[in-house]
Amino acid sequence: MSLAESWDRYAVGSTPRRAENANGDTTWLNWTQYADHGPNEALLGPVAGRRVLELGSGSGSNLAHLVTLGASGLGVDIAPAREAVARERWGDLPGLEFRTVEATAFLSRTDRTFDVVLSIFGAVWFVDPETLLPLIRARMAAGGILAFSHLPAGSQRPRPGRAGMRHDHSPSTWERLLTGHGFTGASASVIDPPEGRTVGTMLVRAVAP
Ligand SMILES: C[S@@+](CC[C@H](N)C(=O)[O-])C[C@H]1O[C@@H](n2cnc3c(N)ncnc32)[C@H](O)[C@@H]1O
Repeated sequence: MSLAESWDRYAVGSTPRRAENANGDTTWLNWTQYADHGPNEALLGPVAGRRVLELGSGSGSNLAHLVTLGASGLGVDIAPAREAVARERWGDLPGLEFRTVEATAFLSRTDRTFDVVLSIFGAVWFVDPETLLPLIRARMAAGGILAFSHLPAGSQRPRPGRAGMRHDHSPSTWERLLTGHGFTGASASVIDPPEGRTVGTMLVRAVAP
């Protein structure tokens, strides 16, 4: 089974996002695996007028929120089923595009530049950072923000496809990797889980040189 096929299978099992969150909002950005928990899009800075790329955009709901705030958004995802669902739900939103393409393939071929790159439990978790970080950096505008989240190192979750494909590093390793690839102001930390839960969320942010 190809990687795209295994991610397509995984997509089938994923639950669609609710129509509204606890605040009654119809769009929102959530970095964590828990509903209505953790920071919002503020850590990206103002996004109005910014070109945003999401790597592994899934059903597109996080990216759609940024577009409602005035960004233009491109979501890339390796799984064709994801593009179909994202287009069905968010296809009417001007300034928002979705494409079925593997993240490194997209970044290697595009001539587009982005002000913000984000990845929420997305491709940054699943591609070797030694391969992916230089490709991301090459397509980012100076001063642009890279931010991503994933489960903390050592936490368990079923993984689709090939064994060993996750790259869930510690905060200090992410900071070293990002700095080593020329990003500045790299900061990584684990967001505490909600009460009664034990697994937090790794959240990482850095600035493109
Ligand atoms: C755990 S899901 C998260 C989806 C979405 N970001 C969310 O928060 O709901 C991981 C997503 O990354 C996509 N993905 C995994 N590896 C990828 C790669 N190398 N290139 C592009 N997309 C990838 C998968 O198809 C899947 O949609």
